[in-house]
Amino acid sequence: MDYFNYRRGKLFAEDVDIQAIAEKVGTPFYVYSHRTITRHINAVRDAFSGHPHIVCYALKANSNGALLRIFAREGFGGDIVSGGELFRARKAGIPSKKIVYAGVGKTGPEIRAALKAGILMFNVESNDELRAIDRIAASMKKRAPVALRVNPDIDAGTHPYITTGMKKYKFGIPVDEALESYRLAKSLKNIEIVGVQKHIGSQLTEMRPFVESAERIVSFVERLRSEGIGIKYLDMGGGLGIRYDDETPPEPHELLNRLIPLVKHTSCTLIIEPGRSIIGNAGMLVTSVLYLKSNDQKNFVIVDAGMNDLVRPSLYDAFHKIEPVAKKRRAEIKADIVGPICESGDFIARDRMIQEMRAGELLAVRSAGAYGFSMSSNYNSRPRPAEVLVDGDKFHVIRKRERIEDLIAHEQIPAFLK
Ligand code: LLP
Repeated sequence: MDYFNYRRGKLFAEDVDIQAIAEKVGTPFYVYSHRTITRHINAVRDAFSGHPHIVCYALKANSNGALLRIFAREGFGGDIVSGGELFRARKAGIPSKKIVYAGVGKTGPEIRAALKAGILMFNVESNDELRAIDRIAASMKKRAPVALRVNPDIDAGTHPYITTGMKKYKFGIPVDEALESYRLAKSLKNIEIVGVQKHIGSQLTEMRPFVESAERIVSFVERLRSEGIGIKYLDMGGGLGIRYDDETPPEPHELLNRLIPLVKHTSCTLIIEPGRSIIGNAGMLVTSVLYLKSNDQKNFVIVDAGMNDLVRPSLYDAFHKIEPVAKKRRAEIKADIVGPICESGDFIARDRMIQEMRAGELLAVRSAGAYGFSMSSNYNSRPRPAEVLVDGDKFHVIRKRERIEDLIAHEQIPAFLK
């Protein structure tokens, strides 16, 4: 069931005509479907079939405050990686006791803010960080709940930039050193060990790496327990892939049907940190065609969204389906869909078959709900796009398009230049 579909040749988001949104808010804009988000939330929740769990939505995928409010209402927690995400999560009503905090470079002020908020746990990525958290907790007369992020050295089989669970990457503590780190943690007075965490990569489309890494983690938990180190939370990270093109990632229930039997005997609460699988296919980027041009090698469709709006194609050579918002009876051509930015790497698609387009017509870039807006920038001094949430036959602007003045809002001109 896709809530983005065609009615008499026109693309709709739920019961709203995309063209009508464009006329109201201009382009480019991101549009999200509330029903799709709710469906994904329910699919994850139902997949636990009663096993104690917390779903900590990975804010980095998309941290718009209106969307976060949906997750908070549905009882989700948050996986954060910065003080900024802590602020957003709490502002949206996600309870601190459902917040886990990851990242290799947490700063002193960020650690302090998280301790003050009383988060569920820090997912610690090094011995140095462990000592820093202990020191800061001591200064606040608190005990910091921690899990260590254990790196199971499993190849997740995804893009190298989004693979994390191998030794050559900066993340986590190698599984063969993690026991020592837990002993260190145990020796620190202001640290309370509560969990073990792992996250091996993103956009995983096979079951195998999830299962193998979970097995390693569970046997590691058993080892810890044999040393008298108790573990309450098993945090399996995020990473479940989605269909961008023809991938066939496991469904949440298929994944959890494999994972729950592995962890059941530990009686741990299971935590997962999904981002993309919740919000990726719940959003698209809508852009207008500005110009067309061709040479003897290529056709170019020049659109008003650039790599500052959606960087995934440029950064990862990622594939996003592109569909005309109004289907016409026209020939298809092979074209590069490119943005206005002054970089050859500014493309949304290359050598793509697409219906012949005319200036002013709209294209929808599918599967852009995750790591779309959240990775956007102002490069080339382009105001960031609007974000819209559709709910049934209504739509709501959940982030206004930035104004030109916003671009310089934080700049200051020193007196000698005035
Ligand atoms: N937990 C941790 C510790 C993570 O580092 C991540 C993603 C997640 C959870 C959520 O993973 P997900 O369920 O969304 O796969 N910008 C890239 C993806 C980077 C992912 C980074 N970490 C992209 O556009 O594909």
